Amino acid sequence: MRNTLFAIRAKPFLKWAGGKTQLLSKIDRRLPKEDIRTGQIDTYVEPFVGGGAVFFHISQKYSEFKHFFLFDINKDLVNCFNQIKTDVETLISELSFLEAEFLRKRSGRKDFYYEIRNRFNADRSPAKLIFLNKTCYNGLYRVNRKDEFNVPSGDYKKPTICDEDNLRSVSGVLQNAEIICGDFTESKQYISNHSFVYFDPPYRPLSPTASFTSYSKDNFPEQDQIRLAEFCKCINANGAKFLLSNSDPKNENPADHFFEDHYKPFAIDMVKAARFINCKAAGRGQINELLITNY
Ligand SMILES: C[S@@+](CC[C@H](N)C(=O)[O-])C[C@H]1O[C@@H](n2cnc3c(N)ncnc32)[C@H](O)[C@@H]1O
Repeated sequence: MRNTLFAIRAKPFLKWAGGKTQLLSKIDRRLPKEDIRTGQIDTYVEPFVGGGAVFFHISQKYSEFKHFFLFDINKDLVNCFNQIKTDVETLISELSFLEAEFLRKRSGRKDFYYEIRNRFNADRSPAKLIFLNKTCYNGLYRVNRKDEFNVPSGDYKKPTICDEDNLRSVSGVLQNAEIICGDFTESKQYISNHSFVYFDPPYRPLSPTASFTSYSKDNFPEQDQIRLAEFCKCINANGAKFLLSNSDPKNENPADHFFEDHYKPFAIDMVKAARFINCKAAGRGQINELLITNY
């Protein structure tokens, strides 16, 4: 039974802002393949896991990795990963019940959405998080100052809410992973010269004031970007290999040399990416993304 389920490739079970599915081949091309093949690298660390697109790709393609350590500051997200790892069947039964109730309603779907949103804010249940993610506006995750999820309902005709096969595959893949809620620096104790670390932090604010214009719990202002650059230098000195992605600030301001200044010792590659989770037509189109490596 388990083998059949494993044959289905696990993929992200949530829509997540900044999801890297579209950059997978460009990231894959730049992996330190020789060190992976020889076993010099056997540990994968991802300090900003989000939806986990890169983790799912690497963990299923490169069987040489023995240990996986995933981090995120978002505790709802981490709880959800952990329930899928430890008790996927309970999650599937709760989620398929929510899916059936939602699809059965011809009118009143919005009311049902808001009822589940209220209940989620009381119990923070992982099944409700997935339900909200699949039925809310644009698959966003946003909380107010009281830490209440406050995204309005979306307008999908027949959303796939409970993808049982994928959830079971995800559970299989997660058996070798530790998923930890915390700041990215907490990953340090798991990083050695046998590690490959993939960093996908929240994008650098496009203008100095951008990070203050809206409240967001996972704000990652300039000081955090600088803290991250220092962290990269530190793990580089310890012999770890890393790859970091970020948006290129030159998309907005050609005179912004943040990455050249703060990642000076490393290789900085520019690749094209499509903008995501942005419903404004003006925000669509191609932007440059940076891929930074220390090897
Ligand atoms: C760009 S997303 C990662 C997207 C992911 N690569 C994917 O493909 O879905 C960045 C993630 O960093 C998390 N985050 C924000 N600040 C953090 C911090 N200080 N330490 C760890 N994670 C943080 C956010 O919760 C978010 O999930």
